[in-house]
Amino acid sequence: MAADRTSSVSVRVPAKINLDLSVGGVAPDGFHPLATVFHAVSLFDDLTVTPAAEGITLEVTGDHVEGVPTDRTNLAVRAARLVARRAGVERGAHLKLHKGIPVAGGMAGGSADAAAALVACDAAWNASLDRAELLELAAELGSDVAFALVGGTAIGSGRGEQITPALARGQYHWVLALSDDGLSTPAVYAEFDRLSAGRVLPEPRVSDEVMQALRSGDSTALGQALRNDLQPAACSLRPDLGDVLDVGLEYGALGGVVSGSGPTIAFLVRDHEHALDLSVALTASGACETVKRAHGPVHGARIGDLPRLG
Ligand code: C5P
Repeated sequence: MAADRTSSVSVRVPAKINLDLSVGGVAPDGFHPLATVFHAVSLFDDLTVTPAAEGITLEVTGDHVEGVPTDRTNLAVRAARLVARRAGVERGAHLKLHKGIPVAGGMAGGSADAAAALVACDAAWNASLDRAELLELAAELGSDVAFALVGGTAIGSGRGEQITPALARGQYHWVLALSDDGLSTPAVYAEFDRLSAGRVLPEPRVSDEVMQALRSGDSTALGQALRNDLQPAACSLRPDLGDVLDVGLEYGALGGVVSGSGPTIAFLVRDHEHALDLSVALTASGACETVKRAHGPVHGARIGDLPRLG
């Protein structure tokens, strides 16, 4: 029997926020057409894949990971199986996932893990799938997986899985207000449908203001242009989010927006120092449970040397 490759492959993958999220009316397949501007920020999950004789196993570490499934329903496990099927791999793998991205936070943590698993399993099994194949598998797995492969700042259309890089200049500093309790993405879309019932929604479209601000690297203009059509739905399910937004803006954020389906709120700030000031103010106000700082854009899922995890 041929010896299994035993060397591990580690991949680091970022969280995303949506700088703009325009949502159309629900389509017959239950999904909503989107036009969005994704932006990868420096909160990361780390996945280490070690080839094994058979079976896909998963171990998850990190803060607040109680709700993360470790069985075949986990998106990273599904991604590993898809790679195996596509490339005809008969071996197995052990996946060791360390989560730094909030779970059910609207920052595409689960999608990030799927993207990391596509890249890491492809490398660990020498499957040699090309970029186009990985992007195709990503689109099968979920709406945000393709962006997690690509990273940077990019426009998403379709369900969000069709990615085009955006012309964007500059580094942006973010303060992220996290909640202990997540929001379910389908529940937020259902609330969006309820709130928009009886109205004909226009075709989703990325805003000119956001694109112009990004082209000129103007953080003040970007702060004013941040927009998310899911925000009223997220705030309807979680009225406390409105208070968090008020506090952040009161303390001088350039802008604030619910990320994706929430409940994470992303505040844009001028620089690192401004980020520290706003973090202290948000924490002291007691309006949100946890505050993190991040910058963007950062690259998508990428193989790298990681410190050994536990
Ligand atoms: O694609 P993903 O698994 O991230 O989607 C999770 C859920 O969010 C879907 O099952 C659907 O209810 C909702 N969704 C949607 N329209 C989109 C993306 C997601 O209705 N464009």
